[in-house]
Amino acid sequence: MEQLRLGVLVSGRGSNLQSIMDACDRGETKAKVVVVLSDNPDAYGLVRAQNAGIDTYVVKPSDYPDRDAHNAAMGDILERYQVGLICLAGYMRVLAPSFVERFRHRIINIHPALLPSFPGLHGQEQALNYGVKVSGCTVHFVDEGVDTGPIVIQAVVPAFHDDTEETLSARILKYEHKIYPAAIRLYAEGRLKVEGRKVIIEGDPHKEWAVTNPPLDF
Ligand code: GRF
Repeated sequence: MEQLRLGVLVSGRGSNLQSIMDACDRGETKAKVVVVLSDNPDAYGLVRAQNAGIDTYVVKPSDYPDRDAHNAAMGDILERYQVGLICLAGYMRVLAPSFVERFRHRIINIHPALLPSFPGLHGQEQALNYGVKVSGCTVHFVDEGVDTGPIVIQAVVPAFHDDTEETLSARILKYEHKIYPAAIRLYAEGRLKVEGRKVIIEGDPHKEWAVTNPPLDF
């Protein structure tokens, strides 16, 4: 089967990019990263991609008159690489509606909270300040809003009263690195169908489960 071609957008550290590249290398995703783009020349994600022999591009917003033009330049590169799915992995800018429309249902993002709670920046800190007992991460399709698109997969982790932003972020990040490659595999296998706000997953086992934090028996 032809492999799905991925274009990944990063602004920083790139640990999700790394988890995607590693899962692709292990043959777990039916996909491969063909190009990595960044708005930030200092993003460590660029180094990770280069170490893996993947082409990288820095597309600086300040080189363009507006966001539409900047995003269009990124879109042209992604099309040149015949990318089938665009993965935002710590890309810190909101995409232009024209870009979202051009690649409708072909852009996914990972967010470090259980959407629709705590969208935007510092999702983990927002969740802690609210006093939640569980949090987690969400992979979703990108629409014109900020972290508002149809949800593909979520993972739940406990949040403890003495967590710091760092400890909760680390707990969530472990699962980001699991659910992002899983979402890509589902997409690559053609098992995701978007119907309005809902993502229908072909073959979803409908397994029932529940977690509590704290556990009920302590
Ligand atoms: C992750 O927490 C991701 O959920 C959020 O930005 C962070 C990026 O981390 N969108 P990394 O660059 O993938 O290490």
